[in-house]
Amino acid sequence: MPGNVVLIGFSGSGKSAVGQLLAERLGWSFVDTDEAIVRRFGKSIAAIFREEGEAAFRAAERDVVALACADARQVISVGGGAPVDRGNRARLLDGNLVVRLEASPETILARLRAASGAEERPLLAGDDPLSRIRSLRAARVEAYAIAHHVVETEGRTPPDVAREVSEVVRGFVEAVEGTGR
Ligand code: S3P
Repeated sequence: MPGNVVLIGFSGSGKSAVGQLLAERLGWSFVDTDEAIVRRFGKSIAAIFREEGEAAFRAAERDVVALACADARQVISVGGGAPVDRGNRARLLDGNLVVRLEASPETILARLRAASGAEERPLLAGDDPLSRIRSLRAARVEAYAIAHHVVETEGRTPPDVAREVSEVVRGFVEAVEGTGR
């Protein structure tokens, strides 16, 4: 078995919703690094960015990623920016199965708006969030390329995506067992 299943991807790709359902399917616990950071500071992500600065958020994110990766049998959903950090990438890849959830910029924006999540994502604030999403995604191509598998979420429900990811996990386990490792 992989130590953990890590979900990466842009905001609005469905990591939290899919992660919770996937954890239920696998009988594993669910860890959301954004939630852990919010608990640690006792304030929202928007307030952390505003009052403590992005550097403080990223430092806490590195810490929370390291703590999560020290444990096993968890589905770990990391914030969209976590894989940008080289050290985070190394930890996420160390013995874990990394799955990226994909969605188009238009869908991402629609989902964030529907969940009033746009205000909660300080990096997407401003009067042209679609351009911001496009440029951030383009800048993160390399960071997001660490995924062992990519799952498309466009036009699909979280349960449907969670089912596909659990099949990916099963396929991975069978492949590892098949090679006798
Ligand atoms: C961020 C994504 C957010 C959160 C923070 C920064 C990013 O997480 O960590 O606002 O850099 O893309 P979600 O991907 O869960 O929205």
